[in-house]
Amino acid sequence: MAADKSIRILRIGHRFVRDYRTLTHLCLVSRALGAEAVYLEEIDDGLLEGIREVTEAWGGDFQVLKVPSWKSAVSEAKKEGRTVVHLTMYGMPLQDKVGELRKSQKLLVAVGGPKVPAEAYQLSDYNVAVTSQPHSEIAALAIVLHELQEGEELKKEFGPAKMKIIPSEKGKKVEKLT
Ligand SMILES: C[S@@+](CC[C@H](N)C(=O)[O-])C[C@H]1O[C@@H](n2cnc3c(N)ncnc32)[C@H](O)[C@@H]1O
Repeated sequence: MAADKSIRILRIGHRFVRDYRTLTHLCLVSRALGAEAVYLEEIDDGLLEGIREVTEAWGGDFQVLKVPSWKSAVSEAKKEGRTVVHLTMYGMPLQDKVGELRKSQKLLVAVGGPKVPAEAYQLSDYNVAVTSQPHSEIAALAIVLHELQEGEELKKEFGPAKMKIIPSEKGKKVEKLT
């Protein structure tokens, strides 16, 4: 079923400093919506530490990993038998491809930043669009993760944690576990 899929995320492109907040959000959204790891070509210690703190506090074993290049990450993913899905507004509509994509148990979902090399379109198994309008890699990723896992990711239990939210109609309830 959808919940046991192995989904990893690749961010193609540098420009780290300008994109610090975007990259943090990309990692947080990936983690919360069931991805195992994010691969980045550059990692800042602050980003790494921030995500590690979130994972320690809220659970799970999500990882942010540095790769030598986006191309090496794509080629490793293919060796592992992952389906490589590049998100781009120029791609084929998600709604036309999601049925096929759901058949894959292991995926690498690649998103771009300001500029994506043309080769990424060729090396990916699928180029997929979440509408044919320009928007955001984080929004596109969130929708793709949700569609791939058919909503199962919303019920994901995160492993050992220090804190757990007790959902409430009003106010904030947090259970301390350690
Ligand atoms: C600032 S946008 C650049 C838009 C870019 N021209 C493109 O190919 O989609 C950064 C990233 O957001 C993602 N993105 C933006 N709009 C998208 C859409 N409609 N569908 C899928 N991904 C999108 C892509 O991964 C893109 O590389």
